[in-house]
Amino acid sequence: MYDFDIETDRSKSDSVKWSTKNELPMWIADMDFKVAPAITQAIIERARHEIFGYTYLPDSWYSSIIDWWDRRYGLKIQKEWLHFATGIVPAITSIVQRVTNVGDNVVVMTPVYDIFFHSIENFGRHALESKLVYDGESYKIDFDDLERALADPLSTLMILCNPHNPLGKVWTKDELKRIGMLCKKYGVTVISDEIHCNLMRPGKVYTPFASVDETCKLNSITCISASKTFNIAGLQSAAVAVPDPILRNKIFRGLESDEVGEPNCFAAVTTVAAFTQGEQWLTELNEYIDMNKKTARDFLRKLPQVKLLDCDASYLLWINIGKFARSSVGFCDFLRKDTGLWLAPGANYRGNGDDFVRMNIACPRSRLLDGLNRFAVGVGHYIEKFDK
Ligand SMILES: Cc1ncc(COP(=O)(O)O)c(C=O)c1O
Repeated sequence: MYDFDIETDRSKSDSVKWSTKNELPMWIADMDFKVAPAITQAIIERARHEIFGYTYLPDSWYSSIIDWWDRRYGLKIQKEWLHFATGIVPAITSIVQRVTNVGDNVVVMTPVYDIFFHSIENFGRHALESKLVYDGESYKIDFDDLERALADPLSTLMILCNPHNPLGKVWTKDELKRIGMLCKKYGVTVISDEIHCNLMRPGKVYTPFASVDETCKLNSITCISASKTFNIAGLQSAAVAVPDPILRNKIFRGLESDEVGEPNCFAAVTTVAAFTQGEQWLTELNEYIDMNKKTARDFLRKLPQVKLLDCDASYLLWINIGKFARSSVGFCDFLRKDTGLWLAPGANYRGNGDDFVRMNIACPRSRLLDGLNRFAVGVGHYIEKFDK
């Protein structure tokens, strides 16, 4: 039994999330939990060597990833499909530059992880949104609109978030198949960012895009890592899997020439420890997060002004504030000044995100309750002040 209730203190660890005083940060997506002991042990053992020179990837790095995806998700990754990357964002940024030209469209279904826009727009590409349709309860894909976006002759790449951040939505095999068919029809390559795939409500599983059929497999680049799942984002380690050999050659050369394809000496040992010894920890983590979601649901049900969307994946809550807030940025600023609670404004994610805030609940339950109480107080004060 792992104890996720421990009140960790990250304030003296140069944590981006905790780079603040007397505030409660619940915005950026990393967790306030200690990692699985096997990961710490792997770092200690490597550190004891006391020499930290250039490092290659041992076979165990490949086999730990291959076994995990085969055993849990039925995706048979071949060793030669895999390349190391110093993170999923560096990989995506490199791939965008290989697969598209300046001025091209990269299609994204919004609201979506905001850093995709950086990888696209910082390099003179255009983020073409296909907005997910919100019906008051949940979101779905507007396939006519998605086809319109993909059919544009300037659209050459789609970045799919599978499962989807910030909605915590797990795409079904049918949805993925339709996306795959449309992308193939219009000659659009797919990046499937699967970083959130292991963080899942107990009993639910995600479908890897490359496992859907041959069309999806051969037209895709899948980005995976242990980082989000096992709370080791600061170790900067990820993997890219490209089944098609011609596409693979292009992508691998890009990762290498952009200098984002080489591991540090802790990258492989921690990935191997996570994927070979971390499964029980992950099972218990997912149960804990699920209980946190239930706690949040029960709490927020008492606030008629807000609506919490149901989600199966990850630890990010997507909360509708559209009934009373004028803008998500204004509301988040107000909340932070008023209560010290620091959330991510939904406008960051585009689409209809301005009606929402994103709250990271991967923290001990006592901290979550503190956050929820601050949220309730802030909503009350905001409504008193602005009364939309
Ligand atoms: C969808 C998605 N992709 C990528 C990342 C970041 O990946 P990395 O830290 O490996 O660059 C995140 C972090 O929140 C994310 O949510």
